[in-house]
Amino acid sequence: MKVTYLGHGGLSIEVDDTHIVVDPFISGNDLAKHLDVDSIEADYICITHAHFDHIADVEVIANRTGAQIISNYEIFTHFNQKGFAGHPMNHGGSWQFNFGKVTYTNAVHTSSFQDGTYGGNPGGFLIETKEGTIYIAGDTALTYDMKLIPLLANLDIAVLPIGDNFTMGVDAAILASDFVECNKVLGYHYDTFGYIKIDHNEAKSKFSAKDKELILLDIGESMNI
Ligand code: NI
Ligand code: MN
Repeated sequence: MKVTYLGHGGLSIEVDDTHIVVDPFISGNDLAKHLDVDSIEADYICITHAHFDHIADVEVIANRTGAQIISNYEIFTHFNQKGFAGHPMNHGGSWQFNFGKVTYTNAVHTSSFQDGTYGGNPGGFLIETKEGTIYIAGDTALTYDMKLIPLLANLDIAVLPIGDNFTMGVDAAILASDFVECNKVLGYHYDTFGYIKIDHNEAKSKFSAKDKELILLDIGESMNI
């Protein structure tokens, strides 16, 4: 499993030959100007919630690639009515895709489209593949429901928001990594806006003080799980 950070809440996950893009927000992200949205490969696009900083590049990527959209029922329906194909899910449900099993997990946040339209309740994704298991928390507070994740699967890596203000911050993410029982954390949802700028070294030190690893990839950088 290869994971590439696309900036903000965006990821590209490669399992075998399948490309799964999560929450693409590239063309509107000043920090991701060096990435070319038109060269991003996608077979599936997983969307955690409807906020603009998670869906901005969904249509341009899906139009070019024909990627299937995986999200909650409301977000799936929003895109399906515009002609995009995909797969609707909801909290606690799992589905076996060709690349692995996906569960739509709970998140404590909000989820409306930019025009105020209801985007269902926000979520995250637990993706179990033969190449590894990844939990992508989505935009969320620290929540006790995270304790359910290790009852479902043993994680190889947890992707947690660390920017604070709109989501949990570093200290809460350390507690979240306890809850999900995974000491290897890829941080995301930080630095993009003024409200969520963090001190990278301080964040990493806080994790290592608890014998945990916080990985902060450069935008466009990849890691193998
Ligand atoms: Ni959000
Ligand atoms: Mn967000």
